[in-house]
Amino acid sequence: SYNGLSLTPPMGFNDWAGFECNSDMNEALFTKTADEIVSLGLNKLGYDYVNIDDCWMQKTRDANGNLQVDATRFPHGLKWLGDYIHSKGLKFGIYEDAGYNTCQGAAGSYGHFQQDANLYASWGVDYLKLDYCYEPMDQFPGKTESQVAQIVYTEASQALLNTHRPMQFSESAPAYVCCSGPDFTNELTWLYQHGNLWRFGSDIYDAWPSVLENYSEDNTPGLAQWAGPGHWNDADMLEVGNGGLTPTEEQTQMTLWSEMASPILLSTDLSKLTPTEVGIVSNRDVVAVDQDKLGAQGTIVQSGTGYDVLAKPLANGDVSVVLFNKGDTAQTVTTNASTIGLPARDTPFRLTDLVSKAVSASDGTISAALAPHATVIYRVHPGADKHLPIHTAATISSSP
Ligand code: DGJ
Repeated sequence: SYNGLSLTPPMGFNDWAGFECNSDMNEALFTKTADEIVSLGLNKLGYDYVNIDDCWMQKTRDANGNLQVDATRFPHGLKWLGDYIHSKGLKFGIYEDAGYNTCQGAAGSYGHFQQDANLYASWGVDYLKLDYCYEPMDQFPGKTESQVAQIVYTEASQALLNTHRPMQFSESAPAYVCCSGPDFTNELTWLYQHGNLWRFGSDIYDAWPSVLENYSEDNTPGLAQWAGPGHWNDADMLEVGNGGLTPTEEQTQMTLWSEMASPILLSTDLSKLTPTEVGIVSNRDVVAVDQDKLGAQGTIVQSGTGYDVLAKPLANGDVSVVLFNKGDTAQTVTTNASTIGLPARDTPFRLTDLVSKAVSASDGTISAALAPHATVIYRVHPGADKHLPIHTAATISSSP
């Protein structure tokens, strides 16, 4: 990648979806989150970023033009917090906005990219999410919104490089400048050269239609060609734990985000996760699909009424296959070896259900009876042992 970072999609925590600018978005949240990541063992699975979103800074800069931390939320300052996070073996992420103000009205970074980058570096920051409210359009008469975004993001990216501190760079611009899917191609020709990941869709919120929208209306799978080691399509944070999704839907978000090689950023009080939710986010076989070294993003290889089938090639020659019932009624979804890109010589193949862990053999068919909003995710491995049971449609029933 342009900065040598992000060889697999970033994982960790960002507070926004769960906490926004509520009063509990404060130092204690981040120290507690770092502690929880370690005590749940999530760090061992790759969840290593602890990222602060909007509202850490004041509305104005100090006399030297430096950003000022909101001392009510962060009484010890951000260098202290970064040190705390690093002391747990984790990494520290921060947020700013490439325009005049952050979306919540605090001081933006426009006109101060280098000064701010130096400040982050002095705090030990490892990751910057750069939002794009209050676009500085008036500074660039005659230029289009897309051109201005390219100029400011390129400059901000260079400022980070100039610090010589490795920092992942998350670009929000496309979510503001343009739309989705193919219309977004203009942005994608420069985003990956200056950043490691980018947001292009709506903000996730804690309900099923939002998960579906960030998956399908924003056409995340359709952007697969732009993802790869060092540069990722960011489908936004996970809502697991926030109460608005059923366990089936929480599993589906984790499964789809992993199949799409999206960043996996939790955004909830980790100490309140149910055992089921801990199981969902710490399923190492699903995480391995997200974090696969090949860095291919899954694509939709088949769809029909209310369902999609996705396939993601993996580094060892296996294929991760997701059958997804998008609809509100149960249905059986079936696909086959050639649709998922497996040559005939690779059959029979071994199927591992990455959630139930059931292993079976198939001579071509892959099938599951899926509750509404449910997914099944299989790791398909060419060649199968004789003793394996023959694959029959897995049944994924609804959880409350
Ligand atoms: C809009 C972004 O898309 C969100 O993820 C969050 O960063 C808010 N802005 C913060 O104001």
